[in-house]
Amino acid sequence: MDIAIVGSGYVGLVTGVCLAHIGHNVVCCDNNKEKIKVLLAGGMPIYEPGLDALLLKYRKAGRITFTSSIAEAAQKATVIFIAVGTPSKKNGDADLTYIENVAREVAQNMDSYKLLVEKSTVPAMTGDRIARTIRLNLPAKYKPGSKNALEFDVASNPEFLREGSAVEDFMDPDRIVIGVESKRAEQLLREIYKPLKATIVVTNLATAEMIKHASNSFLATKISFINSVSQICERVGADVEKVAEGMGYDKRIGRAFLNAGIGYGGSCFPKDVDAFVRLAEKSGYDFKILKSVREVNEDQKSWFTRHIEDKLWIVKDKVIAVWGLAFKPDTDDMRSAAALTIIEALQDEGARIQVYDPQAMPNAKKLLKGVKFCADPYAAAKGADCLLLITEWAEFKKADFAKTRDLMRQAVVFDGRNFLDAKRLRELGYEYHGIGRGGNA
Ligand code: UGA
Repeated sequence: MDIAIVGSGYVGLVTGVCLAHIGHNVVCCDNNKEKIKVLLAGGMPIYEPGLDALLLKYRKAGRITFTSSIAEAAQKATVIFIAVGTPSKKNGDADLTYIENVAREVAQNMDSYKLLVEKSTVPAMTGDRIARTIRLNLPAKYKPGSKNALEFDVASNPEFLREGSAVEDFMDPDRIVIGVESKRAEQLLREIYKPLKATIVVTNLATAEMIKHASNSFLATKISFINSVSQICERVGADVEKVAEGMGYDKRIGRAFLNAGIGYGGSCFPKDVDAFVRLAEKSGYDFKILKSVREVNEDQKSWFTRHIEDKLWIVKDKVIAVWGLAFKPDTDDMRSAAALTIIEALQDEGARIQVYDPQAMPNAKKLLKGVKFCADPYAAAKGADCLLLITEWAEFKKADFAKTRDLMRQAVVFDGRNFLDAKRLRELGYEYHGIGRGGNA
């Protein structure tokens, strides 16, 4: 099938490349001409494991192309996925300006049936707005009621990809959600996903939009719940890791997303929780649980900083090594990364920060000032009074901790992800602090 993807960020690029992989002809579009230039030259503007190899393969096979013209993309394809950004406004609402622009431009360039599919996370009822924008902007000869009136459909097909494992998640999804208002749209989407053999949940448009809101918010709730539990564990001598394990065997609960730490970040959870709270407010409901989820997430970061300050005693002029900056491993994404809040708070207290991240440093350099960026974990640890593990990159687990200890001025570790081997570090002479790890943990 001929498919256009408008928006070539994480979601758009992964969707485009993976749709080419399962046999479709894809044109990816973005209004950022620089990004399109990079892609046309064979480059990859983001870091996502496995994506560059697939892109190369399908570019060579001619199954994926790039353009900065929505008109061109819309004319080539029957199905148009909208994967543009929906950033948060100051009041927490999702800013849908880009979505409106895409709908308008597609409408102005339509000359046959099109199916527009929302891929970006959008507030429920956005589908209705897109349909209205299309009706209002169709060329006069194709407007509803005219002799050559064009048919179109709007559908919602939310994505559930996680950065870092996006290709895998696309190819082997837990489910595919399709929100449609017509049989034609349902059939087209079923056809697109046929090669994946996944469970398909078909709903109306608003329900599909709601499934996305509810799924991300529920996952964020699990994280804030376990983080709250970790706070009590710390005080009563219990180990949150064992608590999560013990809870996780219950099939009704499950172990996933019960990792206590310094809170969730990224481009999705913080923004989506805000947008869901706002959507609820607008519909006349006070979503108290989600407001607390958000508050607990913020508290977790400030608690971590206070904890470091408390243990270090004097923070001013102390050298603090930071391992990991990205909001999670296997990505270069720094959006709403906990590292930003924690580092800035420690800088405010006069700490000197030395950092290393395997992928996120180019992005982090645009956001962090007065920080020393180092070439490897050991350079970051040199002369440090303590080491913060902020992102659980696999390479940190394999680090030479005897060497690290000898490079540091004081062998103190704050493990913000309960990722390192506490027992081994203590044996090596480190003072180890995890999250919610009371008792002997
Ligand atoms: C999340 C969802 O997991 C995807 O299903 C969804 O498609 C995506 O948002 C989206 O809406 O686009 P992502 O933000 O890439 O994916 O990353 P996650 O793996 O969900 O992690 C989010 C944050 O939660 C990270 O900062 C991570 O460190 C944190 N986290 C995750 C925890 O603190 N504890 C956990 O147990 C799990």
